[in-house]
Amino acid sequence: MTAPVIVAIDGPSGAGKSTVARTLANRLGVPYIDTGAMYRAIGLAAREQGIELPIEDAARVERLAESLSIGIETGPEMRVFVNGRDVTAAIREPEISRYASAVSAIPGVRRRLVAEQRRLAAESGGVMEGRDIGTKVFPETPHKFFLTAPLAVRAARRAAELESRGTPQDPSRVLTEMEKRDFDDANRAESPLTCDETYVLVDSGDRDASAVAAEIERRVRERASPGG
Ligand code: DC
Repeated sequence: MTAPVIVAIDGPSGAGKSTVARTLANRLGVPYIDTGAMYRAIGLAAREQGIELPIEDAARVERLAESLSIGIETGPEMRVFVNGRDVTAAIREPEISRYASAVSAIPGVRRRLVAEQRRLAAESGGVMEGRDIGTKVFPETPHKFFLTAPLAVRAARRAAELESRGTPQDPSRVLTEMEKRDFDDANRAESPLTCDETYVLVDSGDRDASAVAAEIERRVRERASPGG
């Protein structure tokens, strides 16, 4: 039996990870797993508990994370549930982006979610997107891609996405918040966003998601069956 294919797609926000990872998962016939959605689910729960930013009581958030049931339904789209409630739409609010980044810096939160992420992809494989998939969750996979694009491009994409969801935001604010979040995610003590020599660096700045997904698919297939 061959081991299931696990593709790690890491990178900063707005690089197009979700669309690329979803397209690639469909082409490879494996589940698409958005790990950011899991941090967002815990961020949403923290906000609903009345926890404020910046988080002062990390132990309280760790206890909260332990007590929640986080459900993931994989398929062409991924759905997220907190204690059985579908939060797929609610976790996309800009305020939850800030909460997700804050809770993701807490070691106990990461421990819990990393364990679940390993379990989710161990059986059937998957295309998993996040910040630490190739460094912490599946460091042994040979298929690691670091997807990025210039900040201005990423911010413009995020602003367009927010507008299409019916929650438009001032584009310059989107850019400032994205820059802060990326800085925090790349500079935290616990599993910071990093790109090392085990990754293939892919710039999505001048190409659309389907072209990027096609390039990654080609590389994955080449590596999975060299010469064949
Ligand atoms: O990809 P996203 O914007 O939905 O992620 C939300 C936050 O969660 C982001 O600020 C960083 C964090 N995150 C993380 O620390 N590790 C992951 N594997 C995925 C997301």
